[in-house]
Amino acid sequence: MIKRGDFILKKNMVALRNITAIFGDHKVIDNLNLDIKDSEFVTLLGPSGCGKTTILRMIGGFLKPNVGDIFIEGKNVTNVPAHKRNVNTIFQSYALFPHLNVYENVAFGMRIQKKSEIQISSQVEKMLKMVSLENFSKRSVTSLSGGQQQRVAIARALVVNPRVLLLDEPFGALDLKLRKDMQSELKAIQQKTGITFVFVTHDQEEALSMSDVVIVMNEGKIQQIGTPTNIYNEPRNAFVADFIGESNILDGVMLEDYIVEFANKKFKCLDFGFKKNEKVDVVIRPEDVKIRKSGLGQLKGCVASVTFKGVHYEIIVDVSGFKWMIQSTMFQKVGSEIGIFLNADDIHIMRKFEHSGEYGDYSAFSDEMYEVYENVTK
Ligand SMILES: Nc1ncnc2c1ncn2[C@@H]1O[C@H](COP(=O)(O)OP(=O)(O)OP(=O)(O)O)[C@@H](O)[C@H]1O
Ligand SMILES: [Mg+2]
Repeated sequence: MIKRGDFILKKNMVALRNITAIFGDHKVIDNLNLDIKDSEFVTLLGPSGCGKTTILRMIGGFLKPNVGDIFIEGKNVTNVPAHKRNVNTIFQSYALFPHLNVYENVAFGMRIQKKSEIQISSQVEKMLKMVSLENFSKRSVTSLSGGQQQRVAIARALVVNPRVLLLDEPFGALDLKLRKDMQSELKAIQQKTGITFVFVTHDQEEALSMSDVVIVMNEGKIQQIGTPTNIYNEPRNAFVADFIGESNILDGVMLEDYIVEFANKKFKCLDFGFKKNEKVDVVIRPEDVKIRKSGLGQLKGCVASVTFKGVHYEIIVDVSGFKWMIQSTMFQKVGSEIGIFLNADDIHIMRKFEHSGEYGDYSAFSDEMYEVYENVTK
């Protein structure tokens, strides 16, 4: 059935069907299904070891899944070797050819394809211009900075006009400022070329700022797929809420529709459709917690630490042993007693899942910070 809406007009560029990858007796990817649409900037985001690189290697043709099929542009490529897939990869290590200059590094793929010198020079020049290296063509790649080498790697990967570009933590080695510059440049290049980008990172800020679609993974399984705003505002479970930004995550009970109990108090919320007295995870973002005078909030706590973060203070508050994180522009004194106030729409209810209870209290964080900043905040 054809539905209305822009998103369904885009066709699938990459589709993974029932993919399982096993190393020894370790099932690294477990029955994974994924559709990546044409011309999108898609990011695989998840902690180290969750299987991001393994997925890229399977799409690129460097690793065959133990079970399942991979489709590119609707064609089953599971048994098609890497060099026959219209896919290119950029690795963190750049993997440039040190004996070739910038021009020849970029030209390499076209030479393999036996293109004419005229075709090569016009395409290489176009690519060098795109990555702002048009005056560097004769330079040795070993004389370039990390950011410049990364640009050569991008130009080299795009010169053969792949349908899909895979990027595995390409900015891992760059300092923070350069990383930010490269992020916005890469995003612009993706939009200009319209090539489907599958980008891998474990940096949630990088993922949120660059992507059309973010795929949050944990232990070889997809936890959530959505737009950056969707993932941030509507995390589907406690893992996503914890991994994307900061979150206070408390054990709660849905007493009835729109009423949840946690921290020994009842709160109004906007959620419904849970079983009566169903145990849930209650997720509250640090920036949504309002600080009141002690006695004027629904909860009462003691300020355990305060860290200045530039725009706001990060305040750890002990409420009956549970350490909350609050972000506020108002300074609070360590040791003072404050009230915590929550509106119904600040409270997000999530179903319990296998990793519930592993995240959401800032005790460890707080102790560490307390030690470091003890002298500053006292
Ligand atoms: N060739 C291999 N042989 C054995 N185990 C492997 C192999 N490749 C990956 N693994 C294991 O599979 C799991 C997933 O690895 P993968 O490299 O895909 O993770 P990742 O999400 O890319 O992590 P990182 O962010 O650290 O790069 C890890 O436990 C890793 O040790
Ligand atoms: Mg990896």
